[in-house]
Parts: sequence; C-alpha cells; structure tokens
Amino acid sequence: MQMDDTHRAYHKRLSFAEILGNYNGASPSRSPHFLFMQIGPYSLPNALFVAPMAGVTDRPFRQLCRQFGAGYAVSEMVSSRKDLWHTLKTSRRVNHEGEPGPIAVQIAGTEPAMMSEAAVYNIDRGAQIIDINMGCPAKKVCHKWAGSALMQDEALALRIVEAVVAACAPRGVPVTLKMRTGWCQSHKNALTIARAAEQAGVQMVTVHGRTREQGYKGEAEYDTIAAVKAALRIPVVANGDIDSPEKAREVLRKTGADALMIGRAAQGRPWIFREIGHHLATGEHLAPPLVAELRRALLEHLQDHYGLYGECTGVRSARKHIGWYLRGLPGGEAFRARMHALQTCEQQLAAVAEYMDALAQQMDRLPLVNDGVALEMAL
Ligand SMILES: Cc1cc2nc3c(=O)[nH]c(=O)nc-3n(C[C@H](O)[C@H](O)[C@H](O)COP(=O)(O)O)c2cc1C
Repeated sequence: MQMDDTHRAYHKRLSFAEILGNYNGASPSRSPHFLFMQIGPYSLPNALFVAPMAGVTDRPFRQLCRQFGAGYAVSEMVSSRKDLWHTLKTSRRVNHEGEPGPIAVQIAGTEPAMMSEAAVYNIDRGAQIIDINMGCPAKKVCHKWAGSALMQDEALALRIVEAVVAACAPRGVPVTLKMRTGWCQSHKNALTIARAAEQAGVQMVTVHGRTREQGYKGEAEYDTIAAVKAALRIPVVANGDIDSPEKAREVLRKTGADALMIGRAAQGRPWIFREIGHHLATGEHLAPPLVAELRRALLEHLQDHYGLYGECTGVRSARKHIGWYLRGLPGGEAFRARMHALQTCEQQLAAVAEYMDALAQQMDRLPLVNDGVALEMAL
C-alpha cells in the first residue's frame, strides 16, 4: 500500500513504542505493558487491535487494518461444530495464507471437548494464538447459546477455558479470552471470570464494556474494565465505542488497559489505527487520508476480497465495505443505491474508480468524520 507523505513520514520515522516513549501527555495508561505489548511469546508492533467481527474482519480486511497501523488482528470466529468445518464459510475463515503473524483465531462453542478439538483443528491450520469467544451476544451453537451467553454459567465457562488451555499449552499456543462485562446489569461477573481464567492459564483478556443483555445498545462503560485490569497480571484489552483518537485516550485513562480494541469504527475507516497511534504519541491529529490514498486502498481491498470470495459472493459481500468507505462522502448514498445493479468484479471496480476520480476533482483529502454518526450507522 502506498501512502501520502505525511503518513509515510509517520510510519517510517517511529515505531508505536517509540512514539509512545516520546509522548509527554499526562496519561496514567502509560504502563510498561502498553509500550511492550506481548501475548505469550509474541511481541506485537503496537497495542491497537482490530476487533473480531464476523462477516467483516476477514483476511483481506485484517491485513488492511494492519497496513493502516493495527498491531494485532483476531480472525472472525470459527464454530466448534465439526459438521461446519468443511463448509466454504469456515474454510475461508481458517485460511491464513499470506497473513502476517501472530495468527490469532477465535473459536466459539458450548462444549469443553468440542472447543479443545476446535483449538487443535485451528492450530493445525496455522493458528498461533487461540481466542475464546465469550463476547458475542447472539451466536447459537449446537442449539445452545454460545459467546457471551457462557458468562451466565461460570462453571461451564471455566471448564471450557481449562479444556482449551490444556489442548493449547503442550503446543506452545497461548489462549486468550474475549468477554463482556457480564450477563446483565445485575450480574456483572467479568471480574470473577477473568480472575478464574487467569488462574487457568489464559494469557490475555479483552473486555467489551457492555453486558450481554445490552447487545450493542447504550454506551460502553469502562469501570468494569478498569476493575479487571487492576485485578489481573496478564494484559487486559479495553473494547467498546472507541471511535476517535480522543476517545481512545479517554478509555486508556479510565481503564489503564494494556491495549485498545476497535471494531465498528474501523469499518470503512481502517486508517483509524494510525490516527489513534499518532494522537496517543503526539497529542496531535493526523490529516485525513488523501482521496488518492483511499482510492488505492479501496481498489486493493476489493481485489483481495474477490480473491478470497470469488466473483459471485465477492461482488455482493464487497458492497457493505464500499458503503462504509463512502459513508458521509458527497454522492456516496446515490452510489450505494446504484451499486446494487453491478454484478461483476470488473463493473464494481470500474464504478468505484470512477466515483473516486470524481471525488478527487472535489477534494484532496477526505473530510473529517463525525464519529457519532459513523458508529450509529455501522450497526
Ligand atoms: C458485525 C459484528 C460482528 C461481530 N462479530 C464478533 C465475533 O465474531 N466475535 C467477537 O468476539 N465479537 C464480535 N463482535 C463484537 C466486536 O468484536 C466488539 O466487541 C464490539 O463491536 C464492540 O466494539 P466496538 O464498539 O469498537 O465496535 C462483532 C461486532 C459486530 C458489529
């Protein structure tokens, strides 16, 4: 990926750790962990993570986020159901060709034995880190609720963690856990589960600052994440509603977390990672990307996307990404409406290129985003 001069200078000049070292803003979050983010044996280039999002963070999008400054990317979840492993959907999710390490795969399920088998299956296909999903609000596996529903049954949650760790540890693969603050407002048990998970050998915990009951409604709260961070020795990652450099700084201040995970705000805006990194390092804001840079990134993303999904599925599933990129841009809505008539990769690529060329006639750089609107629309 090519970058304009401002961004190239930023990337070349300093690593994230170095720029954080130079950062002289007062922030209680500048713990050594934040400078030297490590999961098991893996050192990460920085502590800004792209969140796993089923149907969004496929390999092409993860790679794009990394190119734009994300230090770590977990795959979309893979079900622990064996009967799904041969499906096209799962085979795409377990394909990590050309992906830079560490390759982290998230698994979802409700049975300890199936989850440990799923861990081994993914390790055999290149996974270097296994993440257990206790964060997704609406995933049914084996006719039982998996994901964050596991937080309702602490004993089962722990048995799953223990089984997965037992399968991964002999293979030298760290296990991480992603969860919510709890099942519901009156049952916020993230701290209990996080402590037990650490005890059982989990090496990093991510907490999304909502309960399962909330789904994606309301606002993320960070007190529970702060409590988890204060209680654990392993790295803790804060997640939920981080949609701007200022918000990133605020969440770091409130939680003291070792890393930040960003989901919806990266949809159509993968450069948010370098924007946040730059702001945390310098207190200043990077200029928005040049239209020419977005043009290149978007066309490259589409090519990679078609490469993974093929023409028929790829053209359809690329529409949501294109829609996100063009959100809020002049003529973006009209383009989205027209785009549904385009059936081939060639047509879609040509239309996007034409749109971007017309946009470049109107502006050099993208406009500043209204973050609140961006998140609302991404749901
Ligand atoms: C479309 C979509 C798919 C998601 N899929 C997963 C998933 O597969 N596994 C998971 O742990 N969380 C999943 N999540 C939750 C995100 O990882 C993240 O915790 C949540 O979106 C909050 O972060 P954000 O406010 O930065 O978006 C998903 C979220 C969205 C919006």
